[in-house]
Order: sequence, then structure tokens, then C-alpha cells
Amino acid sequence: ADHVGTYGTNVYQTYGASGQFTYEFDGDELFYVDLKTRETVWRLPEFSNFTKFETQNALQNIVVAKRNLDTLIKDSNFTPATNEIPEVAVFPKSPVTSGIPNTLICLVDNIFPPVINITWLYNGHPVAEGVAETTFYPKSDHSFLKLSYLTFLPSAEDFYDCRVAHWGLEEPLLKHW
Ligand SMILES: *[C@@H]1O[C@H](CO)[C@@H](O)[C@H](O)[C@H]1NC(C)=O
Repeated sequence: ADHVGTYGTNVYQTYGASGQFTYEFDGDELFYVDLKTRETVWRLPEFSNFTKFETQNALQNIVVAKRNLDTLIKDSNFTPATNEIPEVAVFPKSPVTSGIPNTLICLVDNIFPPVINITWLYNGHPVAEGVAETTFYPKSDHSFLKLSYLTFLPSAEDFYDCRVAHWGLEEPLLKHW
């Protein structure tokens, strides 16, 4: 196919009774529906200038996904999901020059189930500011991919770690940069 649109991917899990509803085009996220606030969150704010989305559809879809999951849980005789081992890579968005603001990207692949904590450490200390993350991007093998971003000012003395905690890992994994 030349282009692939994935319109309305429903993900629902019993952990935290949480769901996710996303629209994608050619592998990029267009938006997700925040199921708590019932708002459409566009990946880029300008997308909302071109189109609208009726969040009621997403909420109805999630109700169906939840009902289907309940059926499948019973049909599988309550077999729990198998934890996969996530793969982590850290790289800068742009070529790094000391003193020029940049963004570190932490790409976490092969996530299953979609329950994960991705955090950043700056010189060994947790960072809260300048951090953003994407939703879970569904993959064809039914695992998920997620990206976390940290804006930073490159300096030769500083070091960064992306810290990933997941049930597939015995202890949190630190990816150094
Ligand atoms: C993520 O962090 C929360 C809050 O600290 C914790 O309760 C939860 O167990 C963590 N999840 C994983 C998968 O490590």
C-alpha cells in the first residue's frame, strides 16, 4: 500500500481499567482521545484547524473493547498476558553542539503489556521538567512502541539516562547517553 490510515485503534486492559483510542496515518499519530477529560488531543495543535473528531465515538468504542476483553478473558480461562522484554534506545533529535538546545529521544519498542514507566535522569538525578511522551503506538505484532522526549542543553560534563520500568524487566533498565 502507498499509505496506511489506522482510524480508531482501541486498546483496553484490566490493569487500572484503562484504555487508549488513537488515529494514525502512515505510522504517525494524528490524535488520541483523553478518556478521562473526553477531549481530542492532537499530536500537533495545527491538525485541529483542518478537521474535528466526535469523541463520543471513541467512548462508545472503548465500552465495546472492554466488553470484548471480558469475553476473551473468560474464553482463555483467565490466562494472564505474557510480559515481553522492552527494547530501549536513546539518541538526540539533532546533531549535538555544546550550548545549542536539543532534544533527547528515548525510543522504547516491544512493549507488552502496555504498562510502563519511562523517566529521565540528569547526572543521576530524576528530571521532571522538559519531559514529554507519546501514547502507545500499536505495532503489527501487537506489541507497542512509545517515545519519551527530554529537552536539554548539551554540555560536555553532563550525562543523561532514560530509565524504563516494565514487568518484563527484573529491575529498571537505564540507557545511558
Ligand atoms: C510505575 O510507577 C508507579 C508509581 O511509582 C508504580 O506504582 C508502578 O508499579 C510502576 N509500574 C511499573 C510497571 O514499574
